[in-house]
Amino acid sequence: MTNPFPYSSDNKRYHTLNYYWHEKFGLKVFKVNLNAGFSCPNRDGTKGYGGCTFCSDLGSGDLAGNKNDDLITQFNKIKQRLHKKWPHSKYIGYFQANSNTYAPVDVLKQKYEPILKLDNVVGLTIATRPDTITKEVLDYLEDLNKRTYLTIELGLQTIHERTANLVNRCYPLSCFIEAVKQLRKRHIEVVVHIINGLPYETKEMMLETIKFLATRDIQGLKIHMLYLINGTKLATFYKKNTLPILSKEEYIDIVCEQLALLPPKMVIHRLTSDPVEETLIEPKWLLKKFIVLNDIDKKLHQSDIYQGFNLNILNRFRQILRGNLQKKDLVIDATVGNGNDTLFLCNIVTEGHVYGFDIQDTAINNTTNLLLKHKKNNYTLFKESHSNMIKVLPTLKDKVSAVVFNLGYLPGGHKKITTNYQTTIKAIRNSLWFLNNKGICLIVVYPGHKEGQREAIGIDKYLLKIKNDYQVKYYYNTVNNKAPYLISIKKPVNK
Ligand SMILES: C[S@@+](CC[C@H](N)C(=O)[O-])C[C@H]1O[C@@H](n2cnc3c(N)ncnc32)[C@H](O)[C@@H]1O
Repeated sequence: MTNPFPYSSDNKRYHTLNYYWHEKFGLKVFKVNLNAGFSCPNRDGTKGYGGCTFCSDLGSGDLAGNKNDDLITQFNKIKQRLHKKWPHSKYIGYFQANSNTYAPVDVLKQKYEPILKLDNVVGLTIATRPDTITKEVLDYLEDLNKRTYLTIELGLQTIHERTANLVNRCYPLSCFIEAVKQLRKRHIEVVVHIINGLPYETKEMMLETIKFLATRDIQGLKIHMLYLINGTKLATFYKKNTLPILSKEEYIDIVCEQLALLPPKMVIHRLTSDPVEETLIEPKWLLKKFIVLNDIDKKLHQSDIYQGFNLNILNRFRQILRGNLQKKDLVIDATVGNGNDTLFLCNIVTEGHVYGFDIQDTAINNTTNLLLKHKKNNYTLFKESHSNMIKVLPTLKDKVSAVVFNLGYLPGGHKKITTNYQTTIKAIRNSLWFLNNKGICLIVVYPGHKEGQREAIGIDKYLLKIKNDYQVKYYYNTVNNKAPYLISIKKPVNK
């Protein structure tokens, strides 16, 4: 199966950081994790004490350099290791541990600027809390962003205030929203960290966090799994209370659903966590990182979904067609429009045939041009209403494997010429006459305009009449309930 996800060169179904940086820099780029010795406002008493309850003494910088070394030494030690294996790579200084904007700007400059001057450093990534990004810090970051490739990572973890209080995050969601706004006003790339499996969060709550982030102006996301390590407040809490920990299967299921809700352009910086084995209490399955990542790939593949899948009902439309059609099949595109669906069908039924209908010259011309451009020859187009399909193709009774309708008006064309509920219903009824035993009729309905609403009601009424003779299924956009939806009609298995 060819990969339906566009932002990948290695068959991944999500937008990896590797892919993004390769496209951006044209070569391998590594992050060099640093510990600059900063603190956090919820550790030193400014906002709270003890830090977030899941966070280690090292401020979640357990894989960063040794804070007893100066930053240049930390950088060089890590770089040397990488350089042996990848001599032509470039580097990004990653200020990872604790809150790396939690200091006066002079101190920030002393920490960041020397790293920027090192050979082959192409940028900086700064992990921090939104409540430490002051006006002065923003001004400096804006200047830095003009001189280098800058990314700010914000630890949000969850949008739910109750959970945030429970884990002692000590800043409200509104603070995060404002920080993102200010950073984006200055064109700075923003990456957000979230954690799945936080205490007492349900799967729905984790999906809500993702749905919220999917609509924000953020460029990247890191998805972590909650882990308990020795010495954290959460570990003590865990020992005294029953705190359910997600199993690997549950985690993978949630991550795959989360990916399906995220815009395809959002870069996924990580999909699992890297706890240190010696201090890890639970879950031990996290130690097998490659198995977790592989299983996520497998699950995406098996379910035939990918990042952004649930944002557009046409993805489901295409998934169903890919799963139902074979190369020798005959199919009908009842509304060719600009020809995108016709081309998609021609690419599947390579040894079969696509019959296309549209009432507009522009649509027939656009589709012809598109198919010519892609050197297709397995199609015939008719400038004719789909309500006359039987008259045009009288020999195809019971021979067609799919009839598809993409209702509404021609994208980029005249909005007054739309499919019309009377002809549409007649055409849907006629399309069932064509279907072979495994045949399917798919209808994408656009209730967002007046005629579309009328059409939607008319189709529902008609489908009620045939519901005992056919299997009818509705598929909705799970993010936007006003968006187009999909209907499939099939003969029952025993007919
Ligand atoms: C939403 S567009 C189709 C988009 C198209 N499938 C694509 O991939 O670009 C709907 C099309 O239906 C066409 N249409 C409207 N009434 C029709 C009818 N009675 N018979 C056939 N096509 C019709 C319109 O001209 C318009 O081009």
